[in-house]
Amino acid sequence: MAADRRGNALGRFVYGRRYLAREDAVEVDPIELKLGSDVYETVRLGGIFGAIRDAGPDYWGRRVIEKHTGKTRLDELSYLLESPDDRSGALSFGLNIEPPAPKKKFNKTIDLEKLQSLAEALIRDDLEGHDDDLAQVQDLMLIGTSMGGARPKAVVEDDVGLWVAKFGRPDDRWNNPRVEFAMLELARQCGVNAARSRIETIAGKDVLLVQRFDRERTSRGYIRARMISGLTMLRAEDLVYARDRWSYVILAEELRRVTTEPKKDSAELFRRMCFNALISNLDDHPRNHSMIAMDREWKLSPAYDLTPSPVVSQDVRDLAMECGDQGRFANKSNLLSQCARFLLSREEGEKIISDMQRQVESTWYNVARACGVSERDAKTVSAAFVYPGFSRDFLPQ
Ligand SMILES: Nc1ncnc2c1ncn2[C@@H]1O[C@H](COP(=O)(O)OP(=O)(O)O)[C@@H](O)[C@H]1O
Ligand SMILES: [Mg+2]
Repeated sequence: MAADRRGNALGRFVYGRRYLAREDAVEVDPIELKLGSDVYETVRLGGIFGAIRDAGPDYWGRRVIEKHTGKTRLDELSYLLESPDDRSGALSFGLNIEPPAPKKKFNKTIDLEKLQSLAEALIRDDLEGHDDDLAQVQDLMLIGTSMGGARPKAVVEDDVGLWVAKFGRPDDRWNNPRVEFAMLELARQCGVNAARSRIETIAGKDVLLVQRFDRERTSRGYIRARMISGLTMLRAEDLVYARDRWSYVILAEELRRVTTEPKKDSAELFRRMCFNALISNLDDHPRNHSMIAMDREWKLSPAYDLTPSPVVSQDVRDLAMECGDQGRFANKSNLLSQCARFLLSREEGEKIISDMQRQVESTWYNVARACGVSERDAKTVSAAFVYPGFSRDFLPQ
């Protein structure tokens, strides 16, 4: 890290010579950090390259690390060095030439009760502002802090493999784990490749387990897939007020440059964008999309973090990323307006949208109930599905 002439933090990245000489050397980021001896520089994201920032914790993991270390704010590199190696993707961080040894023992699903109560203590501390419940600060790191996102979570292992466990919060307006579980199922039924998931009920509370798609279990341990977020693919800033590059259309083009199956992956991204509009998943920011590479080839990761928002407006709802000529407007004509850039003809695009609209409209309730969403929660989120403005042809004046 250094500073540029305007005083902005400037990050430099260079691949080690020994690494470049390896036959199995791969790039950290196929767009911005191609393999070679160039010195790369960036001032985005406070001087941290997107692919490296992607491996760091977000709001939730940072809270855990801050509580654990007793410091209120650490710099970006300290968060990376302090976080355990259950993070997304294939990177490890250390100060020596050799990477730190891989983690051998993960929390098991039977530890979920303890993890849940640690997460609850941290949330209570945030909501009520006292430390009484955090007597076992040492234990906090058991939660597994490195995954991104803001919601409380931990990483657990069972006979199948590794899972992201997502807990509810006392201030949730509905049973989030159940509803997210139902949305992953609904997405699957709409032809979206959604991450595999299940529910565990621990001490009367539901926990959503989403199978890690960036780890493959083998007899010799886990193979780690490389992973970069949509934010990195877009080379964008993560602040909402600097989101001029947050766009599905640009994301589709970046995806096409890198994936081994451009036609398939662009159509899949189009389907996800339409699904998000149909369930008012307005939190579909670029970190909720990723590409992964288990071996040399990059592809779109399975879909994750699908959450309906039953907002009040019936006319206009905006996705978090631009999706067509009318900006972020979650509307059928807008979604269709740039379908060629997803490598789809107008007819193909129209068919995807109308089939999915019909499916979401007629099945969301039954899918939710079959996934264990209560009648009351189904009613609370019902306004999220196929809102009236979705099919209107023009913006209201
Ligand atoms: N099944 C998964 N396998 C690997 N990484 C995942 C998986 N699900 C989520 N992630 C990573 O963890 C981050 C946080 O997960 P997410 O479900 O988005 O949580 P939150 O609701 O807190 O935003 C994601 O941005 C992604 O990088
Ligand atoms: Mg998320």
